[in-house]
Amino acid sequence: MLSSIVVLTGAGISAESGIRTFRAADGLWEEHRVEEVASPEGFAADPALVHGFYNERRRHLLSGSVRPNPAHTALARFERNYGDKGGEFLLITQNIDNLHEEAGSKNLLHLHGELLKMRCMGSGRVFDIREDLSTNSRCECCNEAGLLRPHVVWFGEMPLYMERIAEALAVCDLFIAIGTSGNVYPAAGFYETARRAGARTVEINLEVTGSRFDEQIYGKASETVPAYLQKLMQQFAERTI
Ligand code: OAD
Repeated sequence: MLSSIVVLTGAGISAESGIRTFRAADGLWEEHRVEEVASPEGFAADPALVHGFYNERRRHLLSGSVRPNPAHTALARFERNYGDKGGEFLLITQNIDNLHEEAGSKNLLHLHGELLKMRCMGSGRVFDIREDLSTNSRCECCNEAGLLRPHVVWFGEMPLYMERIAEALAVCDLFIAIGTSGNVYPAAGFYETARRAGARTVEINLEVTGSRFDEQIYGKASETVPAYLQKLMQQFAERTI
């Protein structure tokens, strides 16, 4: 019997909400050098440039034009219905946008951090942020300029919640990856960990990624995710999985 589901999402799930992915031809990493805007060394070398990169993305996210799409909404609805029937559900996202929580997802872990949070490098405290950050921004804990950074995970840094994720993968029956290219570890290896734990693995993506899932579903997340989850809920209700 299916009892525990883990879902991993990537930039592809937010693409139809108007957020650019990283590795497409018009992706963010075509325009920006990863090591300059998404590494501790880049931040040390030019903090203003890094703040500018995340400020721009935060402004866009809060512009009012970016809304959850049917894939986000379907995941939140599935979590409620499946939870009501006693199922365990964990959503892990590599995305730093807030579209899953806006759609109503609850059991959600932001593996790569959050655009609407900042962290003090002095105290380690994390705060909400909706405004721009600059090298002059002062934290309320140390009241010092230059200590605040975006609460996002950069290359070379440890992703967040790894222990909780490992625990969930170890007992999951079904692992679903949605809209992720599988280029960045450790997230790219989660499906192998789940498979070793006995889970069935399913990938939903616009295109072939080359990863070896048990089942692959191709198409836009806004269409494929609601359809797949509806089918899954029906099978679960009929006790055929
Ligand atoms: P990528 O940009 O690498 O991959 C996006 C994936 O989404 C691709 O496989 C696309 O085919 C797919 N896709 C695009 N539009 C889609 C749609 N409408 N429906 C379904 N799938 C769609 O983004 P991620 O895999 O999320 O990390 O990237 C992983 C990490 O790399 C990011 O979290 C970020 C980045 O560097 C950090 O910054 C630490």
